[in-house]
Amino acid sequence: MNPKAHQPDSLPAPGPSALAQSEALVALIRAELNTAGGWLPFDRYMERALYAPGLGYYSGGARKFGLRGDDGSDFVTAPELSPLFPATLARPIAEALQASGTRDVMEFGAGTGKLAAGLLNALTALGAQFDSYSIVDLSGELRERQRETIEAAAPTLAGKVRWLDALPERFEGAVIGNEVLDAMPVRLFASVDGAWRERGVVWRDAWFAFEDRPVSASADIALLSEIDMAGSGDYLAETHDAARAFTRTICTMLSRGAAFFIDYGFPRHEYYHAQRAQGTLMCHYRHRAHGDPFVYPGLQDITAHVEFTGIAEAGVETGADLLGFTSQARFLLNAGITDALSEIDPGDTARFLPAANAVQKLLSEAEMGELFKVIAFSRGLEDTLRAFSSGDRSHTL
Ligand SMILES: C[S@@+](CC[C@H](N)C(=O)[O-])C[C@H]1O[C@@H](n2cnc3c(N)ncnc32)[C@H](O)[C@@H]1O
Repeated sequence: MNPKAHQPDSLPAPGPSALAQSEALVALIRAELNTAGGWLPFDRYMERALYAPGLGYYSGGARKFGLRGDDGSDFVTAPELSPLFPATLARPIAEALQASGTRDVMEFGAGTGKLAAGLLNALTALGAQFDSYSIVDLSGELRERQRETIEAAAPTLAGKVRWLDALPERFEGAVIGNEVLDAMPVRLFASVDGAWRERGVVWRDAWFAFEDRPVSASADIALLSEIDMAGSGDYLAETHDAARAFTRTICTMLSRGAAFFIDYGFPRHEYYHAQRAQGTLMCHYRHRAHGDPFVYPGLQDITAHVEFTGIAEAGVETGADLLGFTSQARFLLNAGITDALSEIDPGDTARFLPAANAVQKLLSEAEMGELFKVIAFSRGLEDTLRAFSSGDRSHTL
């Protein structure tokens, strides 16, 4: 093994214990590659790189979330950026609880716990009646961090929080997942000279490398073959079995209430488009984004944009209603983010300016406002929610 061969000078070098963890993960994936005959589909590589117990990016010790690379973090998410994000999100959640007559919240992939702490406080401030706040995360390592954040920021409400090891068969209430779908493993397919091949992982020249294999007919190939890529020539694309299966599971479990997922991505006709002929696979390390998933396995995040039409289909297949689909900017504006901002005294510049900057990031078309979308499913809700009252784009899915 030659990890040095895969340490780009453009990225800061990890410390010795992080490198040792990465090398252990490399050995684990290599052993699996050998057992599998020398080739693994990319989704399996990605699953191991992110979630192999104790070694993967989310299940190992990496810091992950934060505002800057010099604190050892790799990327920032909306709840890390501003408390106004949970404060605003609490409004449609409270509305869904009230409209469905339910009293429980469940969050998937809770990161540092900031969204949970913010939602607990904001739901209480709104007078929402809720009994429990359950957290489900593939990363057991984050549980301690979440507990500390919640105990510090929402001490009187921490007793309502519980961590689930398995999903209940039925759940009535509000489900929320911010940037969870993009963290699910994807398969990669390459179209060369008009023929699709599956892109997988091999061990070559002492490191991981991509290798394409012929594919047999499958639902993924049927989907990709329908895409009109006229003029785009050779093409690389992801498919999202894991995110679709996850959506099916959640919408089947949701027997009453609403489920909200917020993430970056596009409806299918925009996703598979000549503009994205190289796909959307992206890695994050110390706030630098690049496209090589074989750099520091287990120490960097690997993600792909979400294909929202597939998510909508998966939810609706279970009999759930598609409650809405819109941009993050429209959703937060409809839900009253500017009212939340106006509660801060503009004269208090130390508080107001950072809050206004963060709101600008959440809403701006050039930053998170347009690329990020909110999709929601419901069961047993008569009407839509204020957050989808204008600018709903469900018809584009
Ligand atoms: C990019 S992080 C987002 C964290 C947080 N929601 C935030 O916005 O800061 C993705 C999280 O989703 C979790 N995750 C991925 N797949 C999951 C699944 N099937 N069930 C529960 N959590 C999952 C990961 O462990 C990780 O904590």
